[in-house]
Amino acid sequence: MQTVQDAPSLRAAVRGWRSQGQTVALVPTMGNLHAGHYSLLKLARARADRVVASVFVNPTQFGPNEDFERYPRTLAQDQAGLAEHGCDLLFAPEVATMYPFGAEHSASIHVPGITDTLEGAHRPGHFDGVATVVCKLFNLVQPDLAVFGQKDFQQLKVIERMVRDLALPVKVMGAPTLRADDGLALSSRNQYLSDAERALAPLIRQTLQQMRELLGKGHARRIIEEAAQSKLERAGFVPDYAAIRRAEDLAEPAEGEREGLVALIAARLGTTRLIDNLPFD
Ligand code: PAJ
Repeated sequence: MQTVQDAPSLRAAVRGWRSQGQTVALVPTMGNLHAGHYSLLKLARARADRVVASVFVNPTQFGPNEDFERYPRTLAQDQAGLAEHGCDLLFAPEVATMYPFGAEHSASIHVPGITDTLEGAHRPGHFDGVATVVCKLFNLVQPDLAVFGQKDFQQLKVIERMVRDLALPVKVMGAPTLRADDGLALSSRNQYLSDAERALAPLIRQTLQQMRELLGKGHARRIIEEAAQSKLERAGFVPDYAAIRRAEDLAEPAEGEREGLVALIAARLGTTRLIDNLPFD
């Protein structure tokens, strides 16, 4: 596996493959890779001749009080893991490569509507940063397809929408959430948890499952959402939201709407913010 930091080397490698008629998949990440990331790589491998992974801790998607500084950076370890999992090329740019005019002076992509709610409401500007960096990565790599995890459900929807709206020539694929044996969704942020917090964390997944059950039994959506929030609060979480939404656009479903729904939770446990979701179909 080759590692490149600059755009010309990246473009040269991709051009070489293209000239042989090979297809290219991109798996964008912020590094500190775990089995969840590697499952995206596996899907990419199955769908394209060549796989590019990117590792870039993107400053524009972190809020001023978020964990940009302490986000775990483990490039050597990621490099070894990617090589082992069949990655052909790792793109690990510096901030100046992704933001030639500086992160504060970057052109920015705003995907309206779907970014106003849930994560967008609690992390202002977050999805502008995500959409912008993903669009830049698409332009640099020019992949045929790109794989994103359903773990970040709203992110996947935002990117699907951006691609359609801006007519970007990339096929976006969603990959299922990989979990620990006790149900906790794998995340680079799980390592911030103390032992006691880690033992509590699977309650998020259990709460999502309970939300699905209660909706199936005909309970009202708002009552279910409130009950889920209280349950998390009682256990020591500080929930940002526990919501049932339309999977397609994350809008609030109409009264009695039961098809195509998803439950989503974001909650803080100590200083760690965890998110998870459960599509109902
Ligand atoms: P990061 O959090 O590193 O995640 C990279 C990709 O891995 C995302 O598509 C995410 O949804 C997926 N992923 C994370 N945990 C997963 C799990 N347990 N199972 C399956 N997939 C999982 O998401 C980002 O980085 C950034 O916002 C990025 C898209 C790279 C833009 O900066």
